[in-house]
Amino acid sequence: MTTAASALFTHVPPYAGDPILSLMESFQADTRADKVSLSIGVYFDNAGRLPMLPSVRRAETALLSNIGPRPYLPIEGMAAYRSAVQTLLLGAEHEAVTGGRVATLQTLGGSGALKVGADFLHRYYPESNVWVSDPTWENHHAMFAGAGLKVDTYPYYDPATGGLRFDAMLAKLRTLPRHSVVLLHACCHNPTGVDLSDAQWQELIPVLRDGGLIPFVDIAYQGFGDGLVEDTFALRAMADAGLQFLIANSFSKNFSMYGERCGGLSVVCADRATTEAVLGQLKATVRANYSTPPTHGARVIERVLNDAELFAMWTAETAEMRGRIRAMREQLHAALNAIFQGRHNVDYLLSQRGMFSYTGLNKTQVAQLRDDHAVYLVGSGRLCVSGLTTDNVEHVARAMAAVME
Ligand code: LMR
Repeated sequence: MTTAASALFTHVPPYAGDPILSLMESFQADTRADKVSLSIGVYFDNAGRLPMLPSVRRAETALLSNIGPRPYLPIEGMAAYRSAVQTLLLGAEHEAVTGGRVATLQTLGGSGALKVGADFLHRYYPESNVWVSDPTWENHHAMFAGAGLKVDTYPYYDPATGGLRFDAMLAKLRTLPRHSVVLLHACCHNPTGVDLSDAQWQELIPVLRDGGLIPFVDIAYQGFGDGLVEDTFALRAMADAGLQFLIANSFSKNFSMYGERCGGLSVVCADRATTEAVLGQLKATVRANYSTPPTHGARVIERVLNDAELFAMWTAETAEMRGRIRAMREQLHAALNAIFQGRHNVDYLLSQRGMFSYTGLNKTQVAQLRDDHAVYLVGSGRLCVSGLTTDNVEHVARAMAAVME
Protein backbone atom coordinates (compact mmCIF):
# COMPACT_ATOMS: atom_id res chain seq x y z
CA MET A 1 0.00 0.00 0.00
CA THR A 2 1.37 3.39 -0.95
CA THR A 3 0.90 6.50 1.13
CA ALA A 4 0.13 9.71 -0.65
CA ALA A 5 3.07 12.11 -0.49
CA SER A 6 2.33 15.11 1.67
CA ALA A 7 1.59 18.16 -0.41
CA LEU A 8 4.55 20.35 -1.17
CA PHE A 9 4.61 24.07 -2.00
CA THR A 10 1.22 24.70 -0.43
CA HIS A 11 2.72 27.57 1.58
CA VAL A 12 3.74 29.41 -1.60
CA PRO A 13 1.62 32.56 -1.83
CA PRO A 14 0.13 33.71 -5.15
CA TYR A 15 2.12 36.32 -7.10
CA ALA A 16 0.50 39.73 -6.93
CA GLY A 17 1.82 40.49 -10.42
CA ASP A 18 4.36 43.06 -11.56
CA PRO A 19 3.00 46.63 -11.38
CA ILE A 20 4.11 47.34 -14.97
CA LEU A 21 4.11 44.03 -16.85
CA SER A 22 0.73 42.86 -15.50
CA LEU A 23 -0.85 45.99 -17.02
CA MET A 24 0.19 44.75 -20.46
CA GLU A 25 -1.78 41.58 -19.86
CA SER A 26 -4.89 43.53 -18.78
CA PHE A 27 -4.48 45.82 -21.78
CA GLN A 28 -4.25 42.92 -24.23
CA ALA A 29 -7.39 41.35 -22.74
CA ASP A 30 -9.32 44.66 -23.03
CA THR A 31 -11.74 44.49 -25.98
CA ARG A 32 -12.54 48.22 -26.21
CA ALA A 33 -11.61 49.60 -29.63
CA ASP A 34 -10.33 52.94 -28.35
CA LYS A 35 -7.97 51.49 -25.72
CA VAL A 36 -4.59 53.20 -25.34
CA SER A 37 -1.52 51.72 -23.63
CA LEU A 38 0.55 54.39 -21.89
CA SER A 39 1.98 52.02 -19.32
CA ILE A 40 4.98 49.92 -20.30
CA GLY A 41 8.18 51.65 -21.40
CA VAL A 42 8.11 50.53 -25.00
CA TYR A 43 8.44 52.84 -28.02
CA PHE A 44 5.59 52.64 -30.52
CA ASP A 45 5.42 54.49 -33.82
CA ASN A 46 2.65 56.90 -34.78
CA ALA A 47 0.54 53.97 -36.00
CA GLY A 48 0.84 52.40 -32.54
CA ARG A 49 3.12 49.64 -33.81
CA LEU A 50 6.39 48.35 -32.43
CA PRO A 51 8.93 49.43 -35.05
CA MET A 52 11.43 47.14 -36.73
CA LEU A 53 14.33 49.51 -37.35
CA PRO A 54 15.69 49.42 -40.93
CA SER A 55 19.28 49.32 -39.61
CA VAL A 56 18.40 46.23 -37.58
CA ARG A 57 16.60 44.61 -40.50
CA ARG A 58 19.57 45.20 -42.76
CA ALA A 59 22.08 43.83 -40.25
CA GLU A 60 19.89 40.83 -39.53
CA THR A 61 19.32 40.05 -43.22
CA ALA A 62 23.07 40.11 -43.82
CA LEU A 63 23.60 37.79 -40.86
CA LEU A 64 20.91 35.34 -41.99
CA SER A 65 22.69 34.65 -45.26
CA ASN A 66 25.77 33.68 -43.27
CA ILE A 67 24.32 32.52 -40.02
CA GLY A 68 26.75 29.71 -39.11
CA PRO A 69 26.83 27.57 -36.01
CA ARG A 70 26.23 28.91 -32.49
CA PRO A 71 29.01 28.04 -30.11
CA TYR A 72 28.88 29.23 -26.54
CA LEU A 73 29.95 32.83 -26.29
CA PRO A 74 32.62 33.64 -23.71
CA ILE A 75 31.12 34.29 -20.25
CA GLU A 76 31.71 38.01 -20.70
CA GLY A 77 30.10 38.06 -24.16
CA MET A 78 31.30 39.03 -27.65
CA ALA A 79 34.47 41.14 -27.72
CA ALA A 80 33.28 43.34 -30.61
CA TYR A 81 29.99 44.01 -28.82
CA ARG A 82 31.70 44.86 -25.54
CA SER A 83 34.09 47.34 -27.10
CA ALA A 84 31.19 48.93 -29.04
CA VAL A 85 29.37 49.39 -25.72
CA GLN A 86 32.36 51.25 -24.30
CA THR A 87 32.59 53.47 -27.38
CA LEU A 88 28.89 54.29 -27.24
CA LEU A 89 28.93 55.12 -23.54
CA LEU A 90 32.25 56.89 -23.07
CA GLY A 91 33.73 57.47 -26.55
CA ALA A 92 36.48 55.39 -28.15
CA GLU A 93 39.09 58.00 -27.29
CA HIS A 94 38.26 58.37 -23.63
CA GLU A 95 41.31 57.73 -21.48
CA ALA A 96 39.36 55.26 -19.31
CA VAL A 97 38.69 53.20 -22.47
CA THR A 98 42.12 53.46 -24.08
CA GLY A 99 43.77 52.91 -20.69
CA GLY A 100 41.96 49.60 -20.19
CA ARG A 101 40.12 50.85 -17.10
CA VAL A 102 36.64 49.68 -18.07
CA ALA A 103 35.42 46.12 -17.46
CA THR A 104 32.44 45.45 -19.73
CA LEU A 105 30.16 42.43 -19.93
CA GLN A 106 27.43 41.66 -22.45
CA THR A 107 24.32 41.17 -20.31
CA LEU A 108 20.70 40.06 -20.57
CA GLY A 109 19.31 43.54 -21.13
CA GLY A 110 19.75 46.41 -18.71
CA SER A 111 18.02 44.33 -16.05
CA GLY A 112 20.67 41.62 -16.34
CA ALA A 113 23.35 44.29 -15.93
CA LEU A 114 21.67 45.63 -12.79
CA LYS A 115 21.38 42.14 -11.34
CA VAL A 116 24.99 41.13 -12.04
CA GLY A 117 26.17 44.51 -10.72
CA ALA A 118 24.03 44.17 -7.59
CA ASP A 119 25.36 40.66 -6.88
CA PHE A 120 28.93 41.88 -7.38
CA LEU A 121 28.45 44.88 -5.07
CA HIS A 122 26.80 42.80 -2.39
CA ARG A 123 29.72 40.37 -2.46
CA TYR A 124 32.49 42.98 -2.25
CA TYR A 125 30.68 45.68 -0.24
CA PRO A 126 28.41 43.54 1.97
CA GLU A 127 27.85 46.34 4.47
CA SER A 128 26.74 48.87 1.86
CA ASN A 129 23.16 49.97 1.32
CA VAL A 130 21.92 51.13 -2.06
CA TRP A 131 20.21 54.51 -2.33
CA VAL A 132 17.72 55.02 -5.13
CA SER A 133 15.80 58.12 -6.18
CA ASP A 134 12.34 58.70 -4.73
CA PRO A 135 10.69 57.47 -6.88
CA THR A 136 12.54 55.10 -9.18
CA TRP A 137 11.70 52.21 -11.52
CA GLU A 138 9.79 49.77 -9.27
CA ASN A 139 12.05 46.87 -10.24
CA HIS A 140 15.18 48.63 -8.91
CA HIS A 141 13.85 47.99 -5.42
CA ALA A 142 13.09 44.34 -6.12
CA MET A 143 16.42 43.67 -7.85
CA PHE A 144 18.71 45.21 -5.27
CA ALA A 145 16.74 43.77 -2.37
CA GLY A 146 16.79 40.40 -4.13
CA ALA A 147 20.58 40.61 -4.33
CA GLY A 148 20.69 41.14 -0.57
CA LEU A 149 21.26 44.90 -0.42
CA LYS A 150 19.19 47.13 1.80
CA VAL A 151 17.43 49.74 -0.35
CA ASP A 152 16.84 53.33 0.83
CA THR A 153 15.73 56.42 -1.05
CA TYR A 154 17.10 59.92 -1.54
CA PRO A 155 14.83 62.90 -2.37
CA TYR A 156 14.33 63.43 -6.10
CA TYR A 157 10.95 64.31 -7.56
CA ASP A 158 9.10 67.40 -6.41
CA PRO A 159 5.33 66.93 -6.83
CA ALA A 160 4.77 70.65 -6.29
CA THR A 161 6.76 71.67 -9.37
CA GLY A 162 7.00 68.46 -11.43
CA GLY A 163 10.77 69.04 -11.23
CA LEU A 164 13.80 68.04 -9.19
CA ARG A 165 14.51 68.48 -5.47
CA PHE A 166 18.16 68.99 -6.26
CA ASP A 167 19.22 70.68 -3.01
CA ALA A 168 17.49 68.03 -0.90
CA MET A 169 19.06 65.30 -3.04
CA LEU A 170 22.56 66.72 -2.54
CA ALA A 171 21.97 67.28 1.16
CA LYS A 172 20.95 63.65 1.62
CA LEU A 173 23.80 62.23 -0.43
CA ARG A 174 26.27 64.27 1.66
CA THR A 175 25.18 62.35 4.77
CA LEU A 176 25.66 58.82 3.40
CA PRO A 177 28.36 56.51 4.79
CA ARG A 178 31.39 55.91 2.55
CA HIS A 179 30.90 53.12 0.00
CA SER A 180 27.15 53.57 -0.08
CA VAL A 181 25.86 52.65 -3.52
CA VAL A 182 23.95 55.46 -5.26
CA LEU A 183 21.70 54.45 -8.15
CA LEU A 184 21.39 57.26 -10.72
CA HIS A 185 19.59 57.55 -14.06
CA ALA A 186 21.86 59.02 -16.76
CA CYS A 187 18.94 60.41 -18.79
CA CYS A 188 15.18 60.07 -19.29
CA HIS A 189 14.52 59.27 -15.63
CA ASN A 190 12.13 56.37 -15.15
CA PRO A 191 9.40 57.01 -13.96
CA THR A 192 9.40 60.82 -13.72
CA GLY A 193 11.11 62.15 -16.87
CA VAL A 194 12.92 64.60 -14.56
CA ASP A 195 16.66 64.75 -15.31
CA LEU A 196 19.61 66.61 -13.84
CA SER A 197 20.95 69.40 -16.04
CA ASP A 198 24.59 69.19 -17.11
CA ALA A 199 25.43 71.87 -14.54
CA GLN A 200 23.69 69.85 -11.82
CA TRP A 201 25.70 66.73 -12.74
CA GLN A 202 28.85 68.83 -12.36
CA GLU A 203 27.69 69.83 -8.88
CA LEU A 204 26.80 66.27 -7.94
CA ILE A 205 30.10 64.70 -9.02
CA PRO A 206 32.27 66.19 -6.21
CA VAL A 207 29.64 65.05 -3.68
CA LEU A 208 29.93 61.49 -4.98
CA ARG A 209 33.72 61.65 -5.07
CA ASP A 210 34.31 63.36 -1.73
CA GLY A 211 31.81 61.11 0.02
CA GLY A 212 33.53 57.95 -1.25
CA LEU A 213 30.21 56.82 -2.73
CA ILE A 214 29.80 54.10 -5.39
CA PRO A 215 27.67 55.44 -8.25
CA PHE A 216 25.70 52.87 -10.26
CA VAL A 217 24.28 54.60 -13.34
CA ASP A 218 21.34 53.12 -15.22
CA ILE A 219 21.07 54.22 -18.88
CA ALA A 220 18.14 52.43 -20.48
CA TYR A 221 16.94 55.21 -22.81
CA GLN A 222 20.10 56.49 -24.48
CA GLY A 223 19.14 58.56 -27.51
CA PHE A 224 15.62 59.38 -26.31
CA GLY A 225 16.60 62.50 -24.34
CA ASP A 226 18.83 64.91 -26.25
CA GLY A 227 20.89 62.58 -28.45
CA LEU A 228 23.06 59.46 -28.32
CA VAL A 229 26.15 61.38 -27.20
CA GLU A 230 24.36 64.13 -25.26
CA ASP A 231 22.58 61.54 -23.12
CA THR A 232 25.93 60.18 -21.92
CA PHE A 233 27.01 63.54 -20.48
CA ALA A 234 26.85 62.24 -16.90
CA LEU A 235 28.91 59.12 -17.71
CA ARG A 236 31.64 61.07 -19.49
CA ALA A 237 31.74 63.78 -16.84
CA MET A 238 32.07 61.18 -14.08
CA ALA A 239 34.84 59.38 -15.95
CA ASP A 240 36.56 62.73 -16.68
CA ALA A 241 36.48 63.51 -12.95
CA GLY A 242 38.25 60.22 -12.18
CA LEU A 243 35.25 58.55 -10.52
CA GLN A 244 35.01 54.78 -10.34
CA PHE A 245 31.48 53.61 -11.01
CA LEU A 246 29.17 51.07 -12.60
CA ILE A 247 27.01 51.54 -15.69
CA ALA A 248 24.04 49.36 -16.70
CA ASN A 249 23.01 50.04 -20.29
CA SER A 250 20.13 48.64 -22.32
CA PHE A 251 19.60 48.29 -26.07
CA SER A 252 15.98 47.18 -25.71
CA LYS A 253 14.43 50.58 -26.44
CA ASN A 254 16.93 52.34 -28.71
CA PHE A 255 17.19 49.26 -30.98
CA SER A 256 13.52 48.30 -30.54
CA MET A 257 14.80 44.81 -29.73
CA TYR A 258 13.08 44.13 -26.42
CA GLY A 259 12.89 40.36 -26.62
CA GLU A 260 16.54 39.82 -27.51
CA ARG A 261 17.62 40.99 -24.04
CA CYS A 262 20.75 42.92 -24.99
CA GLY A 263 22.57 45.22 -22.61
CA GLY A 264 25.87 45.74 -20.91
CA LEU A 265 27.45 46.15 -17.51
CA SER A 266 30.55 48.35 -17.40
CA VAL A 267 32.67 49.06 -14.35
CA VAL A 268 35.07 52.00 -14.59
CA CYS A 269 38.02 51.12 -12.34
CA ALA A 270 41.13 52.90 -11.04
CA ASP A 271 43.70 50.96 -13.08
CA ARG A 272 44.17 48.12 -15.54
CA ALA A 273 45.02 45.45 -12.96
CA THR A 274 41.90 46.20 -10.90
CA THR A 275 39.83 46.15 -14.09
CA GLU A 276 41.05 42.66 -14.94
CA ALA A 277 40.25 41.38 -11.46
CA VAL A 278 36.80 43.01 -11.55
CA LEU A 279 36.06 41.54 -14.98
CA GLY A 280 37.09 38.13 -13.68
CA GLN A 281 34.74 38.34 -10.69
CA LEU A 282 31.90 39.62 -12.86
CA LYS A 283 32.44 36.55 -15.05
CA ALA A 284 32.27 34.35 -11.95
CA THR A 285 28.94 36.01 -11.06
CA VAL A 286 27.53 35.37 -14.54
CA ARG A 287 28.76 31.78 -14.61
CA ALA A 288 26.97 31.09 -11.34
CA ASN A 289 23.75 32.68 -12.66
CA TYR A 290 23.11 31.85 -16.32
CA SER A 291 26.58 30.77 -17.46
CA THR A 292 26.96 32.62 -20.77
CA PRO A 293 24.93 35.16 -22.77
CA PRO A 294 23.00 34.44 -26.00
CA THR A 295 24.29 35.17 -29.50
CA HIS A 296 21.69 36.47 -31.90
CA GLY A 297 20.75 39.94 -30.68
CA ALA A 298 24.34 40.74 -29.79
CA ARG A 299 25.48 39.84 -33.30
CA VAL A 300 22.92 42.21 -34.81
CA ILE A 301 23.71 45.08 -32.47
CA GLU A 302 27.46 44.64 -32.80
CA ARG A 303 27.10 44.81 -36.57
CA VAL A 304 25.09 48.04 -36.45
CA LEU A 305 27.41 49.70 -33.95
CA ASN A 306 30.62 48.71 -35.74
CA ASP A 307 29.58 49.46 -39.33
CA ALA A 308 29.79 53.17 -40.24
CA GLU A 309 26.83 53.11 -42.64
CA LEU A 310 24.55 51.12 -40.35
CA PHE A 311 25.58 53.25 -37.40
CA ALA A 312 24.60 56.41 -39.30
CA MET A 313 21.23 54.84 -40.16
CA TRP A 314 20.63 53.87 -36.55
CA THR A 315 21.63 57.34 -35.31
CA ALA A 316 18.99 58.83 -37.63
CA GLU A 317 16.42 56.28 -36.46
CA THR A 318 17.00 57.17 -32.81
CA ALA A 319 16.65 60.86 -33.74
CA GLU A 320 13.30 60.09 -35.37
CA MET A 321 12.03 58.23 -32.30
CA ARG A 322 13.23 61.07 -30.07
CA GLY A 323 11.55 63.63 -32.30
CA ARG A 324 8.24 61.78 -32.24
CA ILE A 325 8.30 61.53 -28.45
CA ARG A 326 8.90 65.30 -28.22
CA ALA A 327 6.13 66.02 -30.71
CA MET A 328 3.68 63.91 -28.68
CA ARG A 329 4.66 65.75 -25.50
CA GLU A 330 3.83 69.01 -27.28
CA GLN A 331 0.54 67.71 -28.68
CA LEU A 332 -0.70 66.38 -25.34
CA HIS A 333 0.36 69.64 -23.68
CA ALA A 334 -1.54 71.67 -26.30
CA ALA A 335 -4.64 69.45 -26.14
CA LEU A 336 -4.80 69.65 -22.33
CA ASN A 337 -4.21 73.41 -22.32
CA ALA A 338 -7.03 73.85 -24.81
CA ILE A 339 -9.36 72.04 -22.40
CA PHE A 340 -8.10 73.51 -19.13
CA GLN A 341 -7.80 77.16 -20.24
CA GLY A 342 -5.30 77.78 -17.44
CA ARG A 343 -7.09 75.81 -14.69
CA HIS A 344 -4.23 73.27 -14.43
CA ASN A 345 -0.55 73.68 -15.24
CA VAL A 346 0.70 70.82 -17.41
CA ASP A 347 4.02 72.38 -18.38
CA TYR A 348 5.74 69.38 -16.78
CA LEU A 349 5.01 67.59 -20.07
CA LEU A 350 7.48 69.90 -21.79
CA SER A 351 10.15 70.12 -19.10
CA GLN A 352 10.32 66.35 -18.48
CA ARG A 353 12.28 64.29 -21.00
CA GLY A 354 12.35 60.87 -22.56
CA MET A 355 9.64 58.27 -22.65
CA PHE A 356 7.96 59.03 -19.36
CA SER A 357 6.11 61.82 -17.63
CA TYR A 358 4.87 61.81 -14.09
CA THR A 359 1.34 63.19 -14.27
CA GLY A 360 0.66 63.47 -10.55
CA LEU A 361 -2.58 61.50 -11.07
CA ASN A 362 -3.38 59.38 -8.03
CA LYS A 363 -4.26 55.68 -7.96
CA THR A 364 -8.01 56.38 -8.06
CA GLN A 365 -7.66 58.65 -11.09
CA VAL A 366 -5.44 56.09 -12.83
CA ALA A 367 -8.08 53.41 -12.17
CA GLN A 368 -10.81 55.71 -13.55
CA LEU A 369 -8.76 56.36 -16.66
CA ARG A 370 -8.51 52.63 -17.24
CA ASP A 371 -12.05 51.64 -16.26
CA ASP A 372 -13.98 54.54 -17.78
CA HIS A 373 -11.77 55.56 -20.73
CA ALA A 374 -9.59 52.52 -21.61
CA VAL A 375 -6.44 54.60 -21.07
CA TYR A 376 -3.73 52.64 -19.24
CA LEU A 377 -1.13 54.41 -17.08
CA VAL A 378 1.05 52.84 -14.36
CA GLY A 379 -0.53 53.10 -10.87
CA SER A 380 2.08 55.67 -9.82
CA GLY A 381 0.69 58.11 -12.42
CA ARG A 382 3.54 57.45 -14.87
CA LEU A 383 2.52 58.06 -18.46
CA CYS A 384 4.53 56.55 -21.33
CA VAL A 385 4.54 59.36 -23.89
CA SER A 386 5.56 57.05 -26.72
CA GLY A 387 2.19 55.28 -26.55
CA LEU A 388 0.56 58.53 -27.74
CA THR A 389 -0.25 58.98 -31.43
CA THR A 390 -1.76 61.80 -33.45
CA ASP A 391 -4.93 59.65 -33.54
CA ASN A 392 -5.30 58.99 -29.81
CA VAL A 393 -3.87 62.14 -28.20
CA GLU A 394 -7.20 64.02 -28.13
CA HIS A 395 -8.97 61.02 -26.57
CA VAL A 396 -6.23 60.78 -23.92
CA ALA A 397 -6.43 64.51 -23.18
CA ARG A 398 -10.23 64.37 -22.77
CA ALA A 399 -9.91 61.30 -20.54
CA MET A 400 -7.25 62.95 -18.35
CA ALA A 401 -9.36 66.07 -18.05
CA ALA A 402 -12.43 64.00 -17.12
CA VAL A 403 -10.65 62.37 -14.17
CA MET A 404 -8.91 65.60 -13.09
CA GLU A 405 -11.93 67.92 -13.00
C1 LMR B 1 9.27 50.09 -17.97
O1 LMR B 1 9.67 50.73 -16.99
O2 LMR B 1 8.10 50.12 -18.36
C2 LMR B 1 10.26 49.29 -18.76
O3 LMR B 1 11.53 49.42 -18.23
C3 LMR B 1 9.83 47.90 -18.92
C4 LMR B 1 9.91 47.12 -17.66
O4 LMR B 1 10.49 46.04 -17.69
O5 LMR B 1 9.36 47.55 -16.64
